[in-house]
Amino acid sequence: SRPAVLVARAIQPEVVARLREHFEVEVNSDDNIYSRDELIARLQGKQGVMTTGSERIDDGVLAAAPGLRAVCNIAVGYNNLDVPAATARGVLCTNTPDVLTETTADFGFALMMAAARRVTESEHYLRRGEWKKWAIDMFAGSDIHGATLGILGMGRIGQAIARRGAHGFGMKVIYCNRSRLAAEIEADCKASYVSKDELLRQADHLVIVVPYSASSHHAIGAAELALMKPTATLTNIARGGVVDDAALAQALAAQKIAAAGLDVFEGEPAVHPALLQVPNVVLTPHIASATRATRLAMANLAADNLIAALGFGPQAGRPPTPLNPEVLKPA
Ligand code: GLV
Ligand code: GLV
Repeated sequence: SRPAVLVARAIQPEVVARLREHFEVEVNSDDNIYSRDELIARLQGKQGVMTTGSERIDDGVLAAAPGLRAVCNIAVGYNNLDVPAATARGVLCTNTPDVLTETTADFGFALMMAAARRVTESEHYLRRGEWKKWAIDMFAGSDIHGATLGILGMGRIGQAIARRGAHGFGMKVIYCNRSRLAAEIEADCKASYVSKDELLRQADHLVIVVPYSASSHHAIGAAELALMKPTATLTNIARGGVVDDAALAQALAAQKIAAAGLDVFEGEPAVHPALLQVPNVVLTPHIASATRATRLAMANLAADNLIAALGFGPQAGRPPTPLNPEVLKPA
């Protein structure tokens, strides 16, 4: 009989149709986020699951779903998955790198520019009917072109942002990363490696693209914000929790930095109430990868992984983007 799989959120019908070619598919068409107990109940009898950041797959969930063989996340970030626990249980985990890199970099740039040029703050003013006359310093912000772009986390997305800044806007690019990039990648991105303190001190525009983990928790807090220029902007498209949102709201309110752009939040979809009170922050609901084409490519890549992981399709046994390939048995 055909393996049974769970699609834990509503996804594009054409991707579900691909899964139905191989599997008995249960889809969460209502798109209500499952409680932990409901997720465990729905996983009974399933060999595979497609998840998003809203489903937490930890060792307890894995223990309660012993038939599970593959967890395919529709996201590049995977801090919702306990990959070591899955590996210990022989469960394959996959994510969706590469297909979202350029789209996400575009959005990082959009947020950075919106923060620096006060796009949403000035629009709110206009919509409130407060625009009575032009003024010489009205909503004056800071330049992007020629400024220093600081990137924290120089993975694929960080590099794509660096290329935009260096080649498109003539920015000076500096970055900090766990390890220094190869010289040819630095040359392609026109990026210089600096310490985290130098990054914070020198950046006119800081963009955060570092994955969330215990070691990146509150990588930007009050002490780090205090090193930044009062004219600087901060953009977070990585994960909530990399930035201390309460400390950031305080820094914005006190004009310790000029502005921020945030697509991700600690405890999202809740947003720290202090952030909602400060005008100099652009807030978006975790949409950096959200173009129709890219969200479809992400779901299709997750489906490719699930189909291959359970032994079907042209890549049977060789899922394209495994996180723990060591669980795959040699063919
Ligand atoms: C979105 O945040 C992702 O990790 O793809
Ligand atoms: C993160 O994983 C990235 O692709 O930058």
